[in-house]
Amino acid sequence: MTMADRLQTSAVGTGTVRLDGPDKVRGLAPYAYEHPVDDPVFLSPVQAEIARGRAVDIDTSAAEASAGVVHVLTPTNAPELADTEDGELAILRSNEIGFRGQYLGAVIAETPEQARHAAELITVSYVQDDHDVELREDHPGAREPESGPGEITVGDFGAAFAEAEIRIDARYSTPMEHNNPMEPHTTIARWDGSTLTLWASTQGVHPARSTLAPILGIDPDRIRIISPHVGGGFGSKGVPHADMMLTVLAALALPERAVKHAVTRQQMFSITGYRAPTLQHVRLGARSDGTITALGFDAVAMSSQTKEFPELAIKPARIMYSGDNRRLTQRVVPLDVPVPSWMRAPGETPGMVGLEIAMDELAEATGIDPIELRIRNDTPTDPETGRSFNRRRLADCLRLGAERFEWGERNPEPRSRCRGEWLIGTGVASATYPANRQAGSVARIRFTKDGYEVAIGAADIGTGTWTALTQVAADALEVPGAEVRLRIGDTDLPNATVAGGSTGLASWSAAVLTAAQTFRSLHGHDPEIGAEAEGKAEENPAAETHSLHSFGAHFAEVRVHEATGEIRVNRMLGVFSAGRIVNPRTARSQFVGGMTMGLGMALMEISELDPRFGHVVNHDLAEYHVPTNADVPAIEATWLDEEDPLAGPLGARGIGEIGIVGAAAAIANAAHHATGVRCRDLPLLADAFLPNT
Ligand code: MOS
Repeated sequence: MTMADRLQTSAVGTGTVRLDGPDKVRGLAPYAYEHPVDDPVFLSPVQAEIARGRAVDIDTSAAEASAGVVHVLTPTNAPELADTEDGELAILRSNEIGFRGQYLGAVIAETPEQARHAAELITVSYVQDDHDVELREDHPGAREPESGPGEITVGDFGAAFAEAEIRIDARYSTPMEHNNPMEPHTTIARWDGSTLTLWASTQGVHPARSTLAPILGIDPDRIRIISPHVGGGFGSKGVPHADMMLTVLAALALPERAVKHAVTRQQMFSITGYRAPTLQHVRLGARSDGTITALGFDAVAMSSQTKEFPELAIKPARIMYSGDNRRLTQRVVPLDVPVPSWMRAPGETPGMVGLEIAMDELAEATGIDPIELRIRNDTPTDPETGRSFNRRRLADCLRLGAERFEWGERNPEPRSRCRGEWLIGTGVASATYPANRQAGSVARIRFTKDGYEVAIGAADIGTGTWTALTQVAADALEVPGAEVRLRIGDTDLPNATVAGGSTGLASWSAAVLTAAQTFRSLHGHDPEIGAEAEGKAEENPAAETHSLHSFGAHFAEVRVHEATGEIRVNRMLGVFSAGRIVNPRTARSQFVGGMTMGLGMALMEISELDPRFGHVVNHDLAEYHVPTNADVPAIEATWLDEEDPLAGPLGARGIGEIGIVGAAAAIANAAHHATGVRCRDLPLLADAFLPNT
């Protein structure tokens, strides 16, 4: 199929093949590190080897004398910053150490090998203070998140829970996990004395610029960030981290030189964010018919002394199920650890583990089928605010999934199925994610001799923006996709909001649709070369009146080996209600990718933080396991055919995150069904299922 053929079939709703695919497989789609630059130098960081204390001496003499070294950056000579409020980004301000792995400096040299070698020659002497990196529910430092809310109450939870006929009262935990996109965090930075140019791996060029500019005290117009292709982010590239700042500081110190820095896989475990571990105390009080009368959810999440990031695990419990009496509390515990950040559906992903395993426990306690139990507690209005949902179709997802997964043939009794030495079980869990849309993106459409140029600083982090946004623009202009030339990933293009919170496509499309309307009303259908129009994405008015969310249902079948406890997933099915699907091909990849990441969360992903030293021991892909093809069985994702006018003019809600939310709980519930063992702590390791342990 030629590119022209490909673009013929480009209407929204068509599974157009990725437009950037041919360039990617031919190596013509540059990632941040690959942009050709003249006269590059290479950066290698120096990181703290203690978790808390002070570097009393940083001896750089051997490094400075080492071959190829052009500069050594330390707190002593680092360029000034205009704003030091952000503890993560205000690096090299002093010799104080807040976590192990914190930057103490960097070596910049003519080759990456010279930089790395010289960085190893730097010797640091420390005064070490006691550190605390262990999350506990009763930690004295536990506090409400700065951004709130610390407590949400509706009715009288205590009384209702005490009086409930059936009570579930259990504790769950989710571990520290690290994002591992294939492309690590990379930056090239060049300062020519008046303009700072960054080729960076980021989920948003404009948001990254507006974060960096005030810290550096450089007018945003004098910063350009370029990022046409990104090799995965999952949230870890949603905000700039210290690695980008370190590269910028080096560039400011070395005018005219292009400073290149690729964070190593090991460095990612202390520098580029992670999913904070959580402890969850869930209490469900119900009548014997399964109706929830009391819902309690107390979440405690790790945070960092360096900068607060609240992993809001209470989020999904706020909206998932009915229940007149509710009490939810959220605490964070700032510890001497690296700064946590976004990881695919922060809040929802860990929060659904406790909630959805607890629902399975309630199903077991009441003898009600887990799907029926969820449908009985479905609610047409937000149980906290009383607002209507945007056509909440959780029950439809559960019912369609049940049919496809042949749930009706399931014997609810645990340990009721086996094949040889393998115990087999199935489980279900709900999925949810907010349908947020951001205001502020601007799209510019210009008619050129090559067709319609549609320009917006949006990001494609592997999600399919190049393709889907071209489809949206083509439809809006009522032309075939071949007549649209999309330009994204550059701050020289009109402003765009971040590819995060599953808001990207819906937000940017609002700008593109408005621009197309304005273009047609100004210039008609036979425009002159050079004809131009802009459109801006406004706030979604429905966000003020409705509770806007997507819903879904996960089904999993697992097998657990009776003798060894080995657990494997046989198959998964996800059914999602996410509004209009712009491109079923790329959408399916998003859903399946999210579910695969949920499988990783369920069975393998855990960053082992050594409490004695405060670092993640398994900081590479040999020991931090993510699912590979051999781990991923038949995963099927499907969706309801629908449009959501409340989500915006496109009728689409975001789909980048909902695929992971609830997936791990479905697997944990399936493991219980297979074995009768209720494992409440992720990941589910073989030990949990061994007899007599
Ligand atoms: Mo996503 S964790 O909002 O990039």
